[in-house]
Amino acid sequence: MMKTSLAQDALDNLVEEATKAAENSYSPYSGFKVGAALRLHDGAVVTGTNVENVSFGLTICAERSALVRAVSQYGPGIRIDAVAVANLNNAASPPCGACRQMLAEFAAPDAPIVFPAADGTRTMPFEEILPLGFDMKLKKTGNRA
Ligand code: THU
Repeated sequence: MMKTSLAQDALDNLVEEATKAAENSYSPYSGFKVGAALRLHDGAVVTGTNVENVSFGLTICAERSALVRAVSQYGPGIRIDAVAVANLNNAASPPCGACRQMLAEFAAPDAPIVFPAADGTRTMPFEEILPLGFDMKLKKTGNRA
């Protein structure tokens, strides 16, 4: 298990919140119920779930649902200190590439990301799950190249 600045019980609570959020999943096409919970710098927790669409490509993942909800609720200055992803299908569900790129705008490089992997629950710092995300800045800041 990785060492993080956040207490393990805070991460456990985040996983619980993500699991609860997955209950609200709208996933009639895949049957895959995903939940995500973001912990913001002030301790607030914002959750999201996947919302599918008959035009499959319009589907939004749980992580991005939570992200747009967090910005909508708390504004553009949010910082994400931790993320948990869960699903009700007893399957692996690391955040997809699109969600990682979206999270990069707001996530601290060392933010622990907890997700179900093929070998069990994994916790990795954000900068390790998105080592070279797209960025337009010329100077290095945080997790960007
Ligand atoms: N999904 C998520 O919610 N998060 C991910 O990181 C990957 C996939 C959703 C999208 C779709 O509704 C279902 O899982 C199957 O791909």
